[in-house]
Amino acid sequence: MSDRGNGRPAGRDPPVRRGQILELEIKGLTHDADGVGPAGGLAVFVPRALPGEVVRVRVTEVRKNHARARLLEVTRPSPRRLEPPCPVYAECGGCQLQHLNARGQLEYKTGLVTDALRRLGGLDGVVVRPAIGMEDPWRYRNKAQFPVAAGPGGRGLVGGIYARGTHRLVPVNECLIQHPLNNTMLQVALELAGRHRIAPYDEDGHTGVLRHVLARATRATGEAMAVFVTRTRDLPAARDLARELMARVPQVVCVAHNTNPRRTNVILGERTRLVLGRPYVEEVLGGLRFRISPTSFFQVNPAQTEVLYSRAVDYAALGGGETVVELYSGIGAISLFLARRAARVTGVEVVPEAVRDAVANARLNGVANVSFIEGPAERVLPELAAGGVRAEVVVLDPPRRGCEPRVLEAVGRLRPDRVVYVSCNPATLARDLARLAGLGYRVREVQPVDMFPQTAHVEAVALAVREEGHRR
Ligand SMILES: C[S@@+](CC[C@H](N)C(=O)[O-])C[C@H]1O[C@@H](n2cnc3c(N)ncnc32)[C@H](O)[C@@H]1O
Repeated sequence: MSDRGNGRPAGRDPPVRRGQILELEIKGLTHDADGVGPAGGLAVFVPRALPGEVVRVRVTEVRKNHARARLLEVTRPSPRRLEPPCPVYAECGGCQLQHLNARGQLEYKTGLVTDALRRLGGLDGVVVRPAIGMEDPWRYRNKAQFPVAAGPGGRGLVGGIYARGTHRLVPVNECLIQHPLNNTMLQVALELAGRHRIAPYDEDGHTGVLRHVLARATRATGEAMAVFVTRTRDLPAARDLARELMARVPQVVCVAHNTNPRRTNVILGERTRLVLGRPYVEEVLGGLRFRISPTSFFQVNPAQTEVLYSRAVDYAALGGGETVVELYSGIGAISLFLARRAARVTGVEVVPEAVRDAVANARLNGVANVSFIEGPAERVLPELAAGGVRAEVVVLDPPRRGCEPRVLEAVGRLRPDRVVYVSCNPATLARDLARLAGLGYRVREVQPVDMFPQTAHVEAVALAVREEGHRR
């Protein structure tokens, strides 16, 4: 009889069945923050259960190598367990860790990064610093994008967050990790859209109009933006809607309309137009002013972004004379932070609107030693490397999927002394750092930053240094 790696002989019936009630001891947390405990050699995943706890669960799904279960009762609670303050926490898919105290969350996130480096990157012995948390880890998110559905009895509209792993909307009136202004904007926008009888989008039939409402608040300037995302090319009563929203929520300086006609989970479509006000909001970070357009990426937690960027600047160790290339530069935020200490910074970004913002931001801050190239990093960087461009420091801040191998190979050809890698996904960070190690870059240190308290997500910044004598 062979062993399947889970301690259970092959060919036997699973040790648990669907609907069964079990008592389990939870041994750890998965990367989705589910508790995990063994039952007859099978790993059972239990959302909202914590390590060290003894729990009573009902099995909901049995697979070959694992099972899932719903928490019924915590018979021996962890000393780190908290009463979650959010009234919809049990159903909502937005947060996964409100029931774990702040220290527990930070240790979990440090562990996520350490574990990914070791398991997925084969990078043993890298120094991973303890995750940096927030003093007040609530109401930090500057961006909300809520899907829209019909209200109770088909009257009006509601917005909310999908239940985990589903497209079932959990209506949310006050999200506790959102900036309060985002909650207000969403409620008012939905009330007004309902009054104008704008039909909610129906995913099954691909009918209806309003798919999402996006709200973006700022911390320093107080300005706010609302974006209505529709399936249709038209947003009915657009100008009235915008005028009424601005009258009710005076912080709103920009109302935009985005059209997304496709059957897709991606929220924004390709066409965005301004309905009323300015085409951007302004935010201040680290003494620099940033203009942010409706479709440009901007980090969601401004306080922790300052922490993250200053660590990235420290890792870049600039003395004033260096040339820096930042790939995936968005609206130029990190580039502008770096430009204060470098001779020259070049940002590379694929979204044209973000590049326009970046150029405007350089001007707004009187920074003359930065420039931005519009295009995909996987095309632009190999071109720069082939053109003989030199850089002492390369900064990478890719989306969740990480860097294409072509990008990292081009980094290797550019031969910077230091690579600073900012990442929101420990798995792709580990993979890419391992690739950089193959190109002669030793990972010196990784600093996780808790950009997303109460959730299972973590941001991290890593420093990799070129090893002397490495041959390509
Ligand atoms: C995680 S964000 C980082 C943005 C910026 N560094 C910041 O801190 O605000 C990733 C950025 O990469 C851009 N992007 C995505 N794919 C890209 C590609 N293939 N080439 C260049 N930029 C890309 C996105 O538009 C987004 O602005």
